[in-house]
Amino acid sequence: VEAGCCGCMVKIGIIGGSGLDDPDILEGRKEKTVTTPYGAPADVLIEGTMNGVQCVLLARHGREHGIIPSNVPYRANIWALKEAGCTHVLVSSACGSLREQFKRGDLVIPDDVIDRTTQRIETFTDGNPGSPPGVCHLPMSPAFNEATRQVLIAATRKLNYNAHDSGTVVCIEGPRYSTKAESKMFGMWGGDLINMTIVPEVVLAKEAGLLYAGVAIVTDYDSWRDGEESVSVQQVVETFASNVSKVKNILKEAVAMISQQNWTEEIQKAKDLVKNNNQALK
Ligand code: ADE
Repeated sequence: VEAGCCGCMVKIGIIGGSGLDDPDILEGRKEKTVTTPYGAPADVLIEGTMNGVQCVLLARHGREHGIIPSNVPYRANIWALKEAGCTHVLVSSACGSLREQFKRGDLVIPDDVIDRTTQRIETFTDGNPGSPPGVCHLPMSPAFNEATRQVLIAATRKLNYNAHDSGTVVCIEGPRYSTKAESKMFGMWGGDLINMTIVPEVVLAKEAGLLYAGVAIVTDYDSWRDGEESVSVQQVVETFASNVSKVKNILKEAVAMISQQNWTEEIQKAKDLVKNNNQALK
């Protein structure tokens, strides 16, 4: 693991959404097939360096994109990154917009989520043999690691990208998109963006003691907006593809910035949070 300027070690997991499954962002790549107590992750881990910092790339849906959002092996993905020695997880994802201020092509560093998923296990601590002991009632505010979010925001500023520095993501089960009535309701609830994968990833990363934050690309207006074609796969894929180079630049910049900070305290805080909210580990 790479030493940061202050001697603390960082290793950065990167989970690419649709369109960011490109391993070319890493130098000295090595593929590793791994398995976990929760089964196999979505694909091989691709280890390498970015700006001289150790990173591990994982395609959330597999590089062939053959896995629907409900079936992404979220637990195996996060566990595998933890086992690989990651301290941070940076993610990218395509999101629909739920309000006028979030325009197609905009970049957002989200700061909160609303969970509308129904079929996903959101804990490692599930009582099964081989799982961590006890019961974990994880506090979810703040949802993302704030220090890591601030690095992503600083990276967008350095690159002169005009990114929203907060936003609430509604995560739906999918794979279908929302009706017009649902879309309007999610906006009234306080959602700014909508996707199908941020939960339980954000939850499991926290439970694994990893520092997790992400960059969202606004790809569509979901289905609330009058006079606008409602969301389609083609729209999502096209808009994501034409903005994905920005996400790569942000990640590269962020990785370099992360390696310049001392994360010892932040990592300890993340671990203590998990320990203090599980009776079996106290
Ligand atoms: N991912 C990208 N756009 C989306 C939308 N409108 N709804 C759910 N997930 C999405």
